[in-house]
Amino acid sequence: MVSEKDFISTDFASIEKGSFQWSSPSNIALVKYWGKKENQIPANPSISFTLNNCKTITKLDFSKKETNDTFSFDLLFEGKPKEDFKPKIQKFFERIEKYCPYLKQYHFTIDTENTFPHSSGIASSASGMAALSMNIMSLEKALNPTITDDFFYQKASFLARLGSGSACRSIKGNVVVWGKHDEISTSSDLFGVEYPSQLHENFHNYQDTILLVDKGEKQVSSTVGHDLMHNHPYASTRFEQAHTNLSALKKVLENGNLDEFIKIVESEALTLHAMMMTSMPYFILMKPNTLEIINKIWKFRNQTNIPICFTLDAGANVHVLYPENVSETVLQFIQQELVGYCQNGNYICDIIGNGSQLM
Ligand code: PMV
Repeated sequence: MVSEKDFISTDFASIEKGSFQWSSPSNIALVKYWGKKENQIPANPSISFTLNNCKTITKLDFSKKETNDTFSFDLLFEGKPKEDFKPKIQKFFERIEKYCPYLKQYHFTIDTENTFPHSSGIASSASGMAALSMNIMSLEKALNPTITDDFFYQKASFLARLGSGSACRSIKGNVVVWGKHDEISTSSDLFGVEYPSQLHENFHNYQDTILLVDKGEKQVSSTVGHDLMHNHPYASTRFEQAHTNLSALKKVLENGNLDEFIKIVESEALTLHAMMMTSMPYFILMKPNTLEIINKIWKFRNQTNIPICFTLDAGANVHVLYPENVSETVLQFIQQELVGYCQNGNYICDIIGNGSQLM
C-alpha cells in the first residue's frame, strides 16, 4: 500500500529556470465528501464526475534564486497581481514542503485564470489547486526524470488534496474515487484514483448543466463546513451511508441503471445539505430558486420519464445531470423553464471530461 512517506522526494538534478502550463477541470461529486480528519484525510470516500469546460489554466514560471530560506512567488490572476490569493498559496507551499523540498530553491510566477467567471459561485479551489499541483509535478519531473507516470499523477493528486480536498479528484480520469472503500481495491485516503471498472455507455458524455442561482461569495467556507462534522449528531451514520452509497453507485456505473443513479445522486445532494442544516451552528445554503428548480426537475421527470436529476455543491447552484441522448429535449426544458431562476439567466453547459492537461 502506498504511504505518505512514498511521496517524500529526495533525488534531484539542478535546473536554472523554465516554465510549464497546465489546465485542470472542476469536478462534481456524486457521493459527497463532507467531514475530514487531520491532514485533509476524508471522513468518508467520495466519487465524482470530472468536468470538461469549467477549468483553471495555470502557468508556472520558475527560476533558481540565491537563497533558499523562504518561499518566493508572485501571483497573477488573469495577468494582474492578486495579493489576496497569496496566503492560500503560502499555506499550500508550507503544507507540501516536506514532500517537495526543492520549492524554496526557486522563485515562482504563478499566472492563473478560470474559464468560468470568478464570481459564479463555482468553487475554483479544486481546479486551481489541481492545476498548481500538476505544474509542481512537472517541475519535479524535470528535476528527476526517472519518476514514473503513475507516481507523477498519484503525487499530483496527493499534493492537490493538501491544497483543497476535492482538488485531488481533478487530476486524471473521467470518474474519480477518493477515500478508502472496501470494494475499490486501488482507493486511498491519500489521493484520488480513476474509477477502475468499465463505465456503462449510458454515462459516456454525461451532461452537467450548471444553473447559477447565486453567484455571491460562499456564506460558509468549506473548511468551516467540514469542521462542523466533528461532534455532529448524525456524523457516524452519514459516513457509513457514504460507503453504502458508493457500493450501490459502483453497481450502477457498471449496469447503467439510471433510475438507481438518480436516487443515489439526489439523496446524496440533499443529505449534504441536511448535514449543514443540522450542524451547530446550522445554515441553509439553498435559495428559494434552488427549490423551485428541484421541483421543476421532479415534475419534468415524472411527466416525461426522461432520466434527468440534480446535484448540489455547498451552495445554491444546481447541477443538472443527464445522458447525452436526451440533451436536446433537456436543454429546451432548461431554457424554457429553469433559466428564469438563474441569476441574470446565467448557466454553464458542461460534460464529463478526462482531467488535467499539459498545454
Ligand atoms: O474540497 P473542499 O474542501 O472545498 O470540499 C468540497 C466539498 C463538496 O464540494 C461539498 C463535496 C465534494 O465532495 O466535492
